Amino acid sequence: MSKIVIIGSISMDLVMETDRIAEEGQTVFGRKFSMVPGGKGANQAVAVGRLSSNKDKVSMIGAVGNDSFGPILGQNLQENKVSIENVGTVPESSGIAQITIYQQDNRIIYCPGANGLVDSEKWSTEWSTIAEADMVVLQNEIPHQTNLAIARFCQDRQIKLLYNPAPSRASDKEMLELVDYITPNHHEFKELFPNRELEEVLREFPNRLIVTLGTKGSTYYNGEKVQLIPAIKAQVVDTTGAGDTFNGALALALAHQLEMGKALAFATLASHLSVQKFGAQGGMPSLEEMKGHQAYEENWHFE
Ligand code: RIB
Repeated sequence: MSKIVIIGSISMDLVMETDRIAEEGQTVFGRKFSMVPGGKGANQAVAVGRLSSNKDKVSMIGAVGNDSFGPILGQNLQENKVSIENVGTVPESSGIAQITIYQQDNRIIYCPGANGLVDSEKWSTEWSTIAEADMVVLQNEIPHQTNLAIARFCQDRQIKLLYNPAPSRASDKEMLELVDYITPNHHEFKELFPNRELEEVLREFPNRLIVTLGTKGSTYYNGEKVQLIPAIKAQVVDTTGAGDTFNGALALALAHQLEMGKALAFATLASHLSVQKFGAQGGMPSLEEMKGHQAYEENWHFE
């Protein structure tokens, strides 16, 4: 059994699929509009929830607004086996991500709303939930000061913490020495370590720094050599949330004590399955779907 706590954003994604991008001052027709639950925090929580077994406990800490989206976002988490005991409702609008899908890739404008009010100084039961965790997961769509307080709390108590620095912020460097695992994509890597060679930096963080490289896969240094875990080729429908699926699956696998190479292969298979359906959470696989894949039987077998 593992207890995983995800702290972060819970948002509504307003998604426009289009064949044309508007220029300044121009209006163009979109092809399709959808409204689906998202937010990097909630996405990672749903990824863990779907992959978890009944013996695991998955909890979300965050906030929704006192608008019509709040209850929908909370219910969606519960339907995906995520406890919302520590999800508050605040006098703000819920977080919103305006997503444009153009040529199978996404462009996102994020407005934090309630997520910007996730303030660890106001917490009580939240700290006891974190204190019991086997793995804590953070991203960058809530205030940096809250992330910092959580990272210090976890370091003091030797609670494992996976930090996904997305979207990147200038202040991210402060987190590096406080967390166990850091998972930037290649853009975030460049902002975290400007003008540095990937391989050189990986060697400074053995089994801790995992850089995702899109269709190439992910890479890390295992203490002896730099390893590439190749991505699995997919029929891509929507890449939104692929990184969140990867991070959620990685956190769960590490909480189950898998060694880094196997944990990354598990996360790679989960994100491979996730891009084959629409929406950040639409394609996130359940443990049953993972079990249907030959690699699962060969490598993991965890309940
Ligand atoms: O990582 C994808 C997520 O980032 C979307 O669901 C959206 O909410 C954005 O903030």
